[in-house]
Amino acid sequence: MGLLTGKRGVVFGVANDHSYAWFISKQLLGAGAQCLFTHLPDPAGKMERRCRSALNELGIPDPWLMPCDASSDASLDAVFAKLQADFGSVDFVVHSIAFADRQFLQVGNFHTTTRQAWAQALDISAYTLLAMAQRAIPLMPNGGSIIAMTYYGGEKVIPGYNLMGIAKAALEHTARYLAAELGEKKIRVNTISGGPLRTLAASAVGGISQMFEHQQRKAPLRRNIDGEEVGNTAVYLLSDLASAVTGENVHVDAGFSIVGL
Ligand SMILES: NC(=O)c1ccc[n+]([C@@H]2O[C@H](COP(=O)([O-])OP(=O)(O)OC[C@H]3O[C@@H](n4cnc5c(N)ncnc54)[C@H](O)[C@@H]3O)[C@@H](O)[C@H]2O)c1
Repeated sequence: MGLLTGKRGVVFGVANDHSYAWFISKQLLGAGAQCLFTHLPDPAGKMERRCRSALNELGIPDPWLMPCDASSDASLDAVFAKLQADFGSVDFVVHSIAFADRQFLQVGNFHTTTRQAWAQALDISAYTLLAMAQRAIPLMPNGGSIIAMTYYGGEKVIPGYNLMGIAKAALEHTARYLAAELGEKKIRVNTISGGPLRTLAASAVGGISQMFEHQQRKAPLRRNIDGEEVGNTAVYLLSDLASAVTGENVHVDAGFSIVGL
């Protein structure tokens, strides 16, 4: 019996086998969960192929997999309607998606951010948590657990993180407001603040190499983290071990966030 045996949920954000969502899924599956997936649609079908191959590596040759552009209400509606039709209920949702125009993620250019880039980043990276939670509520009649991935750049200024830092601040506070309202439905909402990890999304952030170096030098544990460590915290937050934990932002960053100087 694993900590998540008998629990089923949907994971948003597996782009490939470097994605945080991939490491989270690996640990959730190891703890006995049933995971369902979405991929970002693209006309050439490249994203779907990469996602499928990453899921194959997790030992899922024929995954429950739907296209989902989370910036589209219709696309989210289709995913949750299919979840309802196929399973009736889910126990958890993993939000591990984000997007900001990389043009505005360069050291020193935060002040150049356009209205359009701001709106798009906040929509895809923060509003989508609310949009998913709204649709998950009817599928969680007996309660559930929702987690989202964030980064320390949502709390403090990290050069280059820029617009994404604003989106993460919004995401983290969205999680708290959701936690406050959904508690009476026994739905818990938490965020995991993960250390830097080499992923597609991270490669868009200017100054990412310095973040890894700085983390190694400054973090109390004197190292970077690996994806499984975030996955293990996801197992905890989605399991009954965390039954009284909601509205939290759990740092999985080798202690980086506690150090001032
Ligand atoms: N890599 C890091 O250093 C790091 C650190 C802390 C937090 N995070 C966060 O982890 C989460 C996952 O990112 P990652 O680093 O694993 O990178 P990733 O590139 O592997 O994952 C990002 C995912 O977002 C998805 N996505 C983007 N726009 C979307 C849309 N409109 N609809 C649906 N999906 C969309 C992509 O398809 C991809 O699967 C993000 O929220 C990111 O900000 C990353």
